[in-house]
Amino acid sequence: VELEAMNTLRVRARAAYYAEVKSASELIRALDWARELKHETLVLGGGSNLVFAGDFPGLVIRMAIRGRRWEHIVDHQATLVLGAGENWHEAVLYAGRAGYRGIENLALIPGTAGAAPVQNIGAYGVELCDCLESVTALDRTTGELVTLNNSECRFAYRDSLFKHMPGRFVITNIRLALSRNRPLALGYRDLQEYLGGAQDSALEPLAVAEAVMAIRRRKLPDPAIIPNAGSFFKNPVVEKARFDALKDRYPDIVGYPQEQGVKLAAAWLIDQCGWKGFRNARVGVHNRQALVLINHSGGNGEDILVLAEEIRKSVEQRFRVTLEMEPGIVAGSTSP
Ligand code: EPU
Repeated sequence: VELEAMNTLRVRARAAYYAEVKSASELIRALDWARELKHETLVLGGGSNLVFAGDFPGLVIRMAIRGRRWEHIVDHQATLVLGAGENWHEAVLYAGRAGYRGIENLALIPGTAGAAPVQNIGAYGVELCDCLESVTALDRTTGELVTLNNSECRFAYRDSLFKHMPGRFVITNIRLALSRNRPLALGYRDLQEYLGGAQDSALEPLAVAEAVMAIRRRKLPDPAIIPNAGSFFKNPVVEKARFDALKDRYPDIVGYPQEQGVKLAAAWLIDQCGWKGFRNARVGVHNRQALVLINHSGGNGEDILVLAEEIRKSVEQRFRVTLEMEPGIVAGSTSP
């Protein structure tokens, strides 16, 4: 099976076997089949956060568990339950239209609901973990469906338990604690500017989602038109003293204070090294966001990873800051 249409970088790669599962029991059947025949497995959501470095010799399982429903509607609070295969952005609009707040800043993030907790998607001052109540997942070590609450998921910036135990859990649905009266998160600079200082009480969550959509469309390439996998690197966190030293040398450096240290804008570092808008015959760097790598024409996973490595090296040389890749690498032999 050709996987080009199943990853947003539109990298060509083949899977030896492929199954689409619409329920937890279909998932279990597919995994049992692979275990019996000793095939490796790869669980795929929207394919927006991975790079195929080569063909996948085993079974690719596409999560297609659907379903959106409300639970425990009490006063202004409600829980939105989403099947792992639900499109994330559609779910954001669905919640927004119902007047529920919590995930509106996460509009237009590509991918599925089931993949969202893995990297703890975040944008414009909100992270999924701010309203994730729990996930249901198949624990492949026991074959049981388990519920993991927010703290059990060990969320951090672009990180979770699921990244540390790859292959152990397959998320089948997620529960979001939303509210009609919680405060909107309007603090992110781009958002403030776009909304022209509008106050919380004057805004509906859908209006915030629409603002986020407009901001993203200005800066980020639409993967349906220009193949990409979003931010290709995490924003690195450095110690305060290290940041101050960098700030002395580079007064314009962009950093956000964190609990431990300062989070640097990787986009700024990459931009300073002259990469923004760079392109070779096949792949390149977006001309409006230096953190986004693009597959211009027929690039394969290797092309993307070679470029990523060059970028990493130049940032390392110039700033002595190490960038960590955000998307996962699947198959193939290269890993930077
Ligand atoms: N900047 C540059 N050059 C560029 C782009 C940005 O110097 O080419 C500077 C900007 O001036 C700004 C700073 O870098 O001061 C930060 O830029 P931006 O606000 O665009 O956010 P980011 O840190 O680059 C992060 C997330 C995005 C998310 C935005 C908005 C990560 C790795 N990325 O990007 O997430 O949409 O904030 O909240 O944390 C994703 O993960 O795929 C993703 C798109």
